[in-house]
Amino acid sequence: MTKNEIVTKINLSKDIARFDIFAPLIARKARAGQFVILKANAAGERVPVTLVDWDEKRGTITVIIQAIGKSTVMFNDKKQGEIFEAVAGPLGAPVEIKKYGTVAVVGGGVGIAEVYPIAKALKSAGNKVISILGARTKDLLILEQEMRQISDITVCTTDDGSYGQKGLVTDALQKLRDGGEKIDAGFVIGPVPMMKFCCRLMQKLGIKSYASLNPIILDGTGMCGCCRVSVGGKIKFACVDGPMFEGDLVDFDELSRRTGEYKKEEAACLLKYRESHVCKVGLH
Ligand SMILES: Cc1cc2nc3c(=O)[nH]c(=O)nc-3n(C[C@H](O)[C@H](O)[C@H](O)COP(=O)(O)OP(=O)(O)OC[C@H]3O[C@@H](n4cnc5c(N)ncnc54)[C@H](O)[C@@H]3O)c2cc1C
Ligand code: FES
Repeated sequence: MTKNEIVTKINLSKDIARFDIFAPLIARKARAGQFVILKANAAGERVPVTLVDWDEKRGTITVIIQAIGKSTVMFNDKKQGEIFEAVAGPLGAPVEIKKYGTVAVVGGGVGIAEVYPIAKALKSAGNKVISILGARTKDLLILEQEMRQISDITVCTTDDGSYGQKGLVTDALQKLRDGGEKIDAGFVIGPVPMMKFCCRLMQKLGIKSYASLNPIILDGTGMCGCCRVSVGGKIKFACVDGPMFEGDLVDFDELSRRTGEYKKEEAACLLKYRESHVCKVGLH
């Protein structure tokens, strides 16, 4: 097998794909909560994606990617046997895995994939794991079976009610608490508003929360300052100090502003890429 080769690719939904990539050195070192930086080709953008799983014997790492812009569309256009130009990592600080007692692990959208390795490690450390998996609609709900296998309780929610409980992950959390579940710590990964409201609710319920932040990342090694976030009034770099931080202390509004800074340019970039990749067979 060649370095950075796609050993397996499985489409999990229309825009979400799972890749097993041959990267033995990373597979040997990876820990829950860390990420890699991928590049589609030599001129490609550096894109952070979470290490969802790894297999030291096979020498592979697993990532799950949601195509939302030019680079992630380019990734998900790749096929089994093709190569990623660069796979750098493992990066970021691993999550502190210990016995907390009962933990709520909350994933929203592709955040379910990102929270999976943490849930798995927390289960191995002897915690009771309650997983709350949220998606806009049934087709976008991924890894349900994998999460059920490592969880004591699994609750699925969809915004439109097409599967599981209708509503948001916060509704499910409140319901569990009203039903008498005592939760000692919560780990939340998903879109920024979801993490913000989930951490706020956990604070109200007296649950210590942790959220994995997703600012724009460039070098991923603490040099450029691009991934700057405010935590407890202090500047932190998500790529080296995180990406997981105490939820009560995160300035989610600032994070939201900073991640949305280049929306116009990102949309233009995707449009240009799509236009240049339209299949022209049969048009003439
Ligand atoms: C630590 C971390 C782990 C992540 N793990 C996953 C994962 O496992 N699976 C997954 O699908 N996505 C993951 N993401 C998000 C992923 O990096 C972005 O979706 C991707 O960079 C978007 O690039 P694009 O060119 O496709 O889209 P663009 O159109 O360029 O951007 C779309 C949005 O993605 C975000 N974004 C853009 N560039 C970057 C960048 N260089 N770094 C971070 N965010 C960016 C911005 O919020 C932007 O508005 C993770 C992000 C971080 C920070
Ligand atoms: S991405 Fe450059 S400092 Fe974190």
